Amino acid sequence: MSSILVEKARGTEHVDQRVDALLSRMSLEEKIGQMSLVNAGDSYIHDDLAQALRAGRVGGVLNEVDARIVNELQRIAVEESRLGIPLVIGRDVIHGFRTVMPIPLGQAATWNPDLVQQAARAAAREAAACGVNWTFAPMIDVCRDPRWGRIAESLGEDPCLASILGVAMLQGFQGPNLGRPDAVAACAKHFAGYGAVEGGRDYAAANVPENELRNVHLRPFKAAVDAGVATLMTSFSEVDGVPATANERLVRRILKDEWGFGGFVVSDWDSVRQLGIHGLTADDRESAREAVTAGVDMEMHGDAYAAHLPSLLRAGELDESLIDSAVRRILHVKFRLGLFENPYTKPDAFPPGAREESLAIAREAALQSIVLLRNEHRVLPLSREKLGSLAVIGPLADAPDEQLGTWVFDGDPGLSVTPLQAIHALVGEHVEVRYLRAMETCRSRDTRAFDEAAALAGRSDATVLFLGEEAILSGEAHCRADISLPGAQAELVARVRQAGKPVIAVILAGRPLTLANIADQVDAILYAWHPGTMGGPAIADLLFGIESPSGKLPVSFPRMVGQVPIYYSHKNTGKPPGPDSVVHIDDIDPKARQLSLGMTSFHLDAGYTPLFAFGHGLSYASFEYSSIRVSSGEIPRGQSFHVCADLRNTGEVRAEEVVQLYVRDLVGSVTRPVRELKAFRRVSLDPGEQVTVEFRLHTDDLAFYGRDMRLVVEPGEFHAWIGGSSEAGLRAAFRVVPPA
Ligand code: BGC
Repeated sequence: MSSILVEKARGTEHVDQRVDALLSRMSLEEKIGQMSLVNAGDSYIHDDLAQALRAGRVGGVLNEVDARIVNELQRIAVEESRLGIPLVIGRDVIHGFRTVMPIPLGQAATWNPDLVQQAARAAAREAAACGVNWTFAPMIDVCRDPRWGRIAESLGEDPCLASILGVAMLQGFQGPNLGRPDAVAACAKHFAGYGAVEGGRDYAAANVPENELRNVHLRPFKAAVDAGVATLMTSFSEVDGVPATANERLVRRILKDEWGFGGFVVSDWDSVRQLGIHGLTADDRESAREAVTAGVDMEMHGDAYAAHLPSLLRAGELDESLIDSAVRRILHVKFRLGLFENPYTKPDAFPPGAREESLAIAREAALQSIVLLRNEHRVLPLSREKLGSLAVIGPLADAPDEQLGTWVFDGDPGLSVTPLQAIHALVGEHVEVRYLRAMETCRSRDTRAFDEAAALAGRSDATVLFLGEEAILSGEAHCRADISLPGAQAELVARVRQAGKPVIAVILAGRPLTLANIADQVDAILYAWHPGTMGGPAIADLLFGIESPSGKLPVSFPRMVGQVPIYYSHKNTGKPPGPDSVVHIDDIDPKARQLSLGMTSFHLDAGYTPLFAFGHGLSYASFEYSSIRVSSGEIPRGQSFHVCADLRNTGEVRAEEVVQLYVRDLVGSVTRPVRELKAFRRVSLDPGEQVTVEFRLHTDDLAFYGRDMRLVVEPGEFHAWIGGSSEAGLRAAFRVVPPA
């Protein structure tokens, strides 16, 4: 064992001894107290929070971010309770704290783990200065349904991308050492399958077969566990008939026993008591028993544990060893956080200049998150020198709150720089900027200002339309069945289009929207998600070519909602469609016979492709890929190999490209997706510059869960593609052969 590992093992041993020593002194009530996470605003659970803290009946508090109050809560817990156990202080620090970073889906569009890590680090520093020592993030539910409002919080549709970025995020929150005062414990959520809720309707059932669960939805969680995430949260939804909070197979058997997760598991908000509402249990007592048996160590906001665990133990319906194991896990995390040594926060210790640093990270993250979906006739970038006037139109051009997105309890809209402000600042006197909001909200159906909008567009050299969805239209419980631009926005586009001048749409939204009805009406589309505090300057820099766009889609964009779920990593089916097999509903001969349209897997009115594919994103440069090669045509199982290709910037500006490697396993004992992302890298190239991009893989990277739910690498033929999106055409083949 290396000296670092020996030291680590000793450290853990030491913590284990302290945990055991403390546990041996705890009463049953104190143990159950550690398993209770209380909302700061609620005093109904116990007569009064301070009283409950003194009695050791609370293990953690959520939703208190006033450092003085947090310190006082800690003081009572530490100085006035019998055993002096400090509290975990939880908060949803999802994408920034005071300084708001792009929504997680936007951060995923950066495909930049270092940047995602920095964004989380900055958020952790700001949150820790307020006494928060635990965040309910990262959210790593693989999500293939843009109707679901929580797609905004997710890292997109792909398990590989979500794993890599989820790990980066949790490492940013937890820092190099959880014991540092500016580290916060991360919580990977929501375990598991929540991204697959039926109909994209929040809290609905998720019906995911175990093989799909393991090969897709569990992968980011396994990666988070392997990377040392401190805690996990169960999901609100049921999977295959058993709500996650009572799902012993998922929580105890897979997460704890099979993967060896050493941290603790918290329920979601009141999800223990909700087991009764699901119809799984008859009362709270049964719910408490089910959740503890499943392995849920801490109950978030709810009193099923506090009220019923004592009697369940007395009646012999639960074994005290289950309680001990839960408390042991919770105490372990508290020791790792260094709370026993230092439970207090010193807000003054907030490093001076941190805000500047946070703003710089927020700006860079926004810049790299924005995806150029379309750029006809290279209408972008605009030229400050050549443009005389610019019409800036739309409800989201100057909306400091809306650009922050969902989950921004602590975000400060006063820090927001809006696109309108940033455009003014950037162009100064060079360009006359004419602004018209045109719609009160994105949902507005009032078209009275549209004549003025069209006239303004007609009088100006170009128009930038700021469209999309307000923050309130995505996030938890904010799902939509129609994911097109709401209100009269499409009509606004059509009216402005009639003016005959170049039109650029900048779309701010918490999800992929269906854009087929406007895509051809505009010359360019910049998809900015909800870009956060510094969204404005990032958008302005891209519009005027100070920077080149480099974001890539972390999720497929459907043409119409009926295609959902549509994702690049689908199965081939026995009747795969091709460009020649698709018939459009408008082209069907009135006398067509049943079998005349071919028999493949597509929609008569939408074909089989998305409007914009996973991984897609244009640049102001252009990139040419060539010469893909694999280190060997035959790779013995158990060995490393590499796949590389040449990449050349054939454009005229320096720009960054996200190079993506996809693989297909042609034959498997369970069918394999038509492509799977395996690796990616951001590369920066000067005009004319050429590099070789090499990805190192191991045959273990090709493993999947087979019919018996074990991880296997099966010998056989594979294809590999390298390119700038999931539609990359440059392909090589190789074989995995049995070990030599
Ligand atoms: C959400 C969680 C969140 C928790 C605490 C729940 O409603 O599902 O993601 O962390 O509330 O605010």
